[in-house]
Amino acid sequence: MKKYQNIEIINFKENTKVTLYGWVQNIRKMGNFNFVDLRDRTGIVQLIFKSKIDFTKESVIKVEGILKLRKSPNKEIPTGMFEVEVENYEILSKSKEIPFEIKDDLNAKEDTRLQYRFLDLRRPKMFQNLLLRHQVIKAARDWFHNNGFLEIETPILSKSTPEGARDYLVPTRHDGKFFALPQSPQLYKQLLMISGIERYFQVSRAFRDEDMRKDRQPEFTQLDIEMSFITEETLFTLMEQLFSSIMEVVNAKIKTPFLRMKYDDAIDLYGSDKPDLRYGYQLKDLSKYFKNTSCDLFKNAESIKCLIFDQELVNSNIKILEEIALKNKTDKLIAIKIENQEFKQNSLNNAIEKELKQIINDFKITNATLLITRGKYQSTTQSLGAVRTKLNELFHLASNEYQFVWIVDWPMFEFEDDVIAPAHHPFTSPTLDTIQYLDSDLSKVKARSYDLVLNGFELSSGSIRIHDSQLQNKMFQVLNLSQEEIDHKFGFFLNAFSYGVPPHGGIAFGIDRLVMILAQENSIRDVIAFPKNANGIDVLFNSPSSVNEDQLQELSLQKIKK
Ligand code: AMO
Repeated sequence: MKKYQNIEIINFKENTKVTLYGWVQNIRKMGNFNFVDLRDRTGIVQLIFKSKIDFTKESVIKVEGILKLRKSPNKEIPTGMFEVEVENYEILSKSKEIPFEIKDDLNAKEDTRLQYRFLDLRRPKMFQNLLLRHQVIKAARDWFHNNGFLEIETPILSKSTPEGARDYLVPTRHDGKFFALPQSPQLYKQLLMISGIERYFQVSRAFRDEDMRKDRQPEFTQLDIEMSFITEETLFTLMEQLFSSIMEVVNAKIKTPFLRMKYDDAIDLYGSDKPDLRYGYQLKDLSKYFKNTSCDLFKNAESIKCLIFDQELVNSNIKILEEIALKNKTDKLIAIKIENQEFKQNSLNNAIEKELKQIINDFKITNATLLITRGKYQSTTQSLGAVRTKLNELFHLASNEYQFVWIVDWPMFEFEDDVIAPAHHPFTSPTLDTIQYLDSDLSKVKARSYDLVLNGFELSSGSIRIHDSQLQNKMFQVLNLSQEEIDHKFGFFLNAFSYGVPPHGGIAFGIDRLVMILAQENSIRDVIAFPKNANGIDVLFNSPSSVNEDQLQELSLQKIKK
């Protein structure tokens, strides 16, 4: 007899004979009857057993029975008008007692869920997440195939690529030598352009040994793209078309072209290079009000920034905001309450009374809390940016929409504790009008790179690449690599640059992040079938794990005690 999906019974008439297979979600005994909810991936059907049953919850059963209309239909579920009077059943596999209920609003610990991931994935929301992920990737693939892109796989056993994280190394039997897992297919996709592929994409796995966050995994999936003979404008237009297709999966019509914002403006107005534009509360610059101040707290501050928050902030909120500000490079968050255009008399407010009055007047403030940071520009912006994000978490400021924005005009380099690093990666082309500063002032060099930000998350980064071997070599030198290191790490790459390189550029999207946003989940772990836990451990397979001495010897490795 045919196996029906549970949902299919809605197309049948009463008294149809059906055969259903599924998992036992729930058992309720009523008198001599047992009511059982049978679950498959399409939903639940109520079964009535008029005889004794001897299966447990989550066992897999097969039932044959007759479809009956329910006297009191369950309006909560699509199959709720029917129930099945069971004539025969078979237990296909009995389940042990389950560690947590298979339902969406469960409060099991995440590690328990991950340890029993095969059960966790039985939950309808998790199935929906995997389905959504499948649909997003399919929509993307369809779009690429319709637009002349070739899907090409690149190696996983590879060599270190400089994306800024620690590598995962793979020891080999070749004389103590190592492969590295790719942090992205960056070098391969550029080589494919040199090979004349012109339009490439890949749903590719990338590996980075870096600190965990809710939007990071050590192993994640990129939608990786590279194109020859393009400019930023062509790439933006194509990617906006791609996203219009992808967003149809969640029935969202998005406005194109996407907004564009300069990196400097994003930092200045939102204190972040990934601003969430679904809510306002831009940062204000207060420096000019304190130019001649006599208050020591503000005197000589390089920058004074303020967020004017017009909703009621209680002391416990302010404490949380202070904590987040201090974690983000400032030593103080100053909170000043304004009520009916007045502020409290205290030593600080009195010391800056004149300045405060002017600010209240200029910004037309009646009731609000001024959240102020002062100090170096990087610290005032970064800390208030983090405060702004926290305010959204506390007060749900963001509207229910998708706000895409291209962040453009990036600096080429970052300087942290006197160490210079590329803001994107060393294959990014400098802009024509700032290339001259490579020899004089690196802080003035701008990159032809761009990020696509969605609702405060960095969805993707990309750039127009260097396609000149001398400039590429120079870039490595500027980054303080010796010629020996350059030859060792990138000799093969620079060599390819001597054989005719098309101008090219590309981008890579974080698929896990995208699906997390579309699924309205808080962690990318909820949209990956088998993720690592918050500490980077696979608690299902209990991995990483030790290997035996013979294996180590074969790989010329020796354990050292720490
Ligand atoms: P980038 O390093 O910015 O660029 O990565 C591209 C996108 O990948 C996602 N991403 C991650 N997602 C989950 N966990 C992680 N640990 C993680 N790290 C990055 C982000 C990010 O925007 N080769 C370049 C792209 C290019 O220039 O074409 C690259 O990998 O969404």
